[in-house]
Amino acid sequence: MTGRTLLVTGGMGFIGSNFVHYWLAHHSKDRIVNLDALTYAGNPDNTASLEHLPNYRLVQGDIADVQCVQRVFQEEAIDIVVHFAAESHVDRSIADPQLFVRTNVLGTQSLLEEARRQGVSKFVHVSTDEVYGTLGKEGLFTESTPLAPNSPYSASKAGSDLLARAYYETYSLPVVITRCSNNYGPYQFPEKLIPTIITRALQNQRIPVYGDGLNIRDWLYVEDHCSAIECVIQSGTPGHVYNIGGGNERTNLEIVRTILAEIGKPESLIEFVADRLGHDLRYAIDAGKLQHELGWRPRYKLEQGLKLTVAWYLEHEAWWRKLLPQAASNKVLNAAADEGDVL
Ligand SMILES: NC(=O)c1ccc[n+]([C@@H]2O[C@H](COP(=O)([O-])OP(=O)(O)OC[C@H]3O[C@@H](n4cnc5c(N)ncnc54)[C@H](O)[C@@H]3O)[C@@H](O)[C@H]2O)c1
Repeated sequence: MTGRTLLVTGGMGFIGSNFVHYWLAHHSKDRIVNLDALTYAGNPDNTASLEHLPNYRLVQGDIADVQCVQRVFQEEAIDIVVHFAAESHVDRSIADPQLFVRTNVLGTQSLLEEARRQGVSKFVHVSTDEVYGTLGKEGLFTESTPLAPNSPYSASKAGSDLLARAYYETYSLPVVITRCSNNYGPYQFPEKLIPTIITRALQNQRIPVYGDGLNIRDWLYVEDHCSAIECVIQSGTPGHVYNIGGGNERTNLEIVRTILAEIGKPESLIEFVADRLGHDLRYAIDAGKLQHELGWRPRYKLEQGLKLTVAWYLEHEAWWRKLLPQAASNKVLNAAADEGDVL
C-alpha cells in the first residue's frame, strides 16, 4: 500500500505525534496532513524533526470549525482519516465539560460529515476503553461491553463513538473504531500519570497519588498502539470495533513504585491525596479480537516500556521542562491519572 494521503487529526499531541513519526518511518511513500488546533496539548516540538519532509504538512485548525475541515478536504485528496484530536484529560473534563462536548462530539461529527461528502477508503476513529465505564475486581472489557461512561471526558468520547457508528450504519462510511487502554511513552504531556511521576521524581518533588492508589489501569506502550492502528488501517473491517490493550494491569501505586525504583528515588516521595470525583476503580481490556482476527501483538512488556520511557524523559529534559508551567496551570493536576493521566 503506497502513495496514499492520510489526514491525521491531533497529530501534535502525545499519541498522534508518535503515530505520525511511526507512519512516516514505516510508510515513507505516503503523505500525512496533520490537522491540529495546537491547544495546550499540541506541541510543535513533537514533530519539529518532520517539518522538512515533502510528504508532511501541518495545518493549524480546529476540527469543530466546519469550514476549516471542508477546506482541508478540498485542498488535499484524503484517502484515510486517522482521528486522534480530542480533549483528553479527565480532570479537565470535570472542570470544563462543555469544551469536551464541543471538540470530541461536534469536532468528530464535522470530520465524519466531510469524510462522507468527499469519500474516503477508511476512517479510523481512535477511542478509549473509558467509554465502557469501570470494572470490579474481575472481568475484562470486550467490544460488546455496553457503553457506560462515568466522566464528562469518557461520555464525550462515547458520544463520538456513537456518531462514528451511525455514519457507518446510515451512510456506509467505512468507519473503524478502536478503543485502547492507557498509553505511556515519549512525548506525553507532563500532566498525565507516568510523565508526572517521572518528571516530579527527577526534581525530587512529592508524587501525589489519588485515594489509596489501588485503582487499576491496563497500560500499553504508545508504539504498540501505533502498530495496532496500522493493523486496523490495513485490515480492519468497516463497521467494527477493535479493543487495544497490552494485558498489563497494575495499580497506580505499583506504577509509581516501579518508576521510583527505576530512577533510584525513595518511596517517601509518595503522597496520598483526596480521591478524584467518580474515580473509576479498574479498566482492563480483552484485545483478543484484534489479535486473533488481525494478527496484532504488542511488542513491549510494561517493565521494558517503562525503562524506555524513563530513558526518553532523561534524554529530553529540555522538552518537558518547557511544559511544566502549562502543566501546573491545570489546578487539579498532580492529583490525577487516567487516559494515562492520573495517579
Ligand atoms: N492517552 C491515552 O492513554 C489514550 C488512551 C486511549 C485513547 N486515547 C485517545 O487517543 C487520542 C489522542 O490522545 P492523546 O493522549 O494523544 O491526547 P493529547 O491531549 O495529548 O493530544 C490531543 C491533540 O488534539 C489536539 N486538539 C485538541 N482539540 C482540537 C481541536 N478542536 N481541533 C484540532 N485539534 C485539537 C491537541 O492540540 C493535541 O495535539 C484521543 O482521542 C484520546 O481520547 C488516549
